[in-house]
Amino acid sequence: MRLKGKTALITGAAGCIGFATAQRFAGEGATVILSDINRDACAGRVKQIAVAGGIADMAIADLGKEAQVVAMFEDIKKNHKRLDILVNIAGGDYEPMTGLEDITDEGINRNIDANLKSCIFCCREASKMMMEQEYGKIVNMSSIMYRGATSPMQFTYSASKGAVFSFTRGLAMNLGMFNINVNAIAPALIEVEALKQGMGQEMWDAVAEDCKTRYPIGRVGQPLDVANLALFLVSEESSFITGQVIELSGGIRL
Ligand SMILES: NC(=O)c1ccc[n+]([C@@H]2O[C@H](COP(=O)([O-])OP(=O)(O)OC[C@H]3O[C@@H](n4cnc5c(N)ncnc54)[C@H](O)[C@@H]3O)[C@@H](O)[C@H]2O)c1
Repeated sequence: MRLKGKTALITGAAGCIGFATAQRFAGEGATVILSDINRDACAGRVKQIAVAGGIADMAIADLGKEAQVVAMFEDIKKNHKRLDILVNIAGGDYEPMTGLEDITDEGINRNIDANLKSCIFCCREASKMMMEQEYGKIVNMSSIMYRGATSPMQFTYSASKGAVFSFTRGLAMNLGMFNINVNAIAPALIEVEALKQGMGQEMWDAVAEDCKTRYPIGRVGQPLDVANLALFLVSEESSFITGQVIELSGGIRL
């Protein structure tokens, strides 16, 4: 049990990658706090972990809203006393397939709020607890899209994930002296329900088939691939790694 006695907050935990991460951590003995904006889906995920013998709690908030994040952390402090691990997974592309001239103020705001502000607010609040403890592990969710050029139709999503990249590095430089590691994961395509539903099965099958030929590893990623990397980054095995943005990409960009 690599996380026995640790308390971990996982955001976006109603989604595929967040839930896989929560399950993986619970299986390693952590008390997991699942956070999401989607109350019903999150409650279902908490139940699934409890049924499997894990210890899980729920923290509902729109993480792009500062006041809600602050209130969520107040509750966590009151109910759990400490927080060892934060994995910021909440987010997604809320302005996909949008040409340059069709970018909207609303689309920019949604992507910045869900991907960047949620990450910054949660890191700020978690680091207050972690600095007091002089212990903490933070993992942020970037994307291979941080490079910007990967998909010309994901401008504002790419920009938000690029900002997560630079925020992660800055935070790592500031928190190292408090024994807090800060890293990020930058995945390529990961098979999740939200994407399949958004694209439709036929389009998904075509994209996944194409990726098989382009990714040296010969397949798209799975939520468990992300969960396994997150587990490594919050374990003691990675205690000398900080400020890194690790591409989880089947080798697509070498
Ligand atoms: N699936 C991929 O190919 C892929 C690739 C690279 C990065 N990512 C990133 O991985 C993360 C998880 O995505 P996923 O693929 O599991 O999608 P998903 O839609 O299944 O999960 C995202 C979750 O975040 C939650 N969320 C969104 N905005 C929120 C907010 N403001 N407050 C609280 N919760 C909010 C959603 O309700 C959802 O449950 C995202 O940050 C995404 O950008 C995904």
